[in-house]
Amino acid sequence: MSLKQPPKPKNKRDANRYRNKRPACEILNQELVIDHKNKIEKWCVVGRNNGGSHRFEQIYGGRLRKKILDFVLDELKQHPEIMVLGPGEGHDTALLKLELEKYGIKPEIDALNLYKGTLDKELIKKRIIRNDLSADKVFEQINQHDDSKLVKRLLENYHLVIAPKSVGVFNKSRAFSLYQVALMLKPNGRAYVELTFDFRKDLNFFKNGPNKSKMLLEVEKQRTIALRMIDSFLKNHKLNRKFEISVLKDTIIEHDICYDFFIEIKRIT
Ligand SMILES: C[S@@+](CC[C@H](N)C(=O)[O-])C[C@H]1O[C@@H](n2cnc3c(N)ncnc32)[C@H](O)[C@@H]1O
Repeated sequence: MSLKQPPKPKNKRDANRYRNKRPACEILNQELVIDHKNKIEKWCVVGRNNGGSHRFEQIYGGRLRKKILDFVLDELKQHPEIMVLGPGEGHDTALLKLELEKYGIKPEIDALNLYKGTLDKELIKKRIIRNDLSADKVFEQINQHDDSKLVKRLLENYHLVIAPKSVGVFNKSRAFSLYQVALMLKPNGRAYVELTFDFRKDLNFFKNGPNKSKMLLEVEKQRTIALRMIDSFLKNHKLNRKFEISVLKDTIIEHDICYDFFIEIKRIT
């Protein structure tokens, strides 16, 4: 958790130079309309991908369901600590908790949205979600310097981190999102981060329409960058940890406008 704020541009020429290196949050802000005063998120996709109960099957159905269940059942204790990044309203997360409870697992689930107002407050009141750690800022901008208390709570604190259509989707710094997520894992922890490649926005890969192999090459690049970032973090902090990042090709779905799929991050030691 160490993203530095970029320096303020000193003049117009400088400003132009920085324009191409905008931080993740600025790019993200173009993707959604934020009523900053009232701290309300208005996602263009709300109604479909808002963490409603209908999302449970879409996210946790199919192969991801087996991966998560097998992992939780085989490798974890009865009370896994789970972080859902960008749960939206959180109703799909509540159903995940119910599902795990059917198997005798009682997870402690934390949530982190952009804003505290986004999660259904009933879920906290009824202790279905333990903590809403939303910081009124973008996940990728959470850093040791400004958010030391929060970073302490997030670092190496979760057995399982799940990020469905959230961090890593609505900005261009996919590798950075993966790196930050990896740092949240306890030993033997796993993370599932959904990435999206939009045919209309990612024109570098999709000038001539959907192209899965080009996209996979780009994902490979992002995966390598994320691993390098993790390596240099570990070296800087003299830590001995091992991580693996894989693209779950069997989760790729081709929609009309995008590819969606999950990345798996494993902390081995
Ligand atoms: C489109 S909604 C998806 C909600 C739910 N996960 C689903 O798949 O239905 C995006 C959610 O992720 C959160 N989000 C997206 N990007 C984020 C970021 N970079 N940092 C923190 N939260 C983010 C938003 O607050 C919002 O709750």
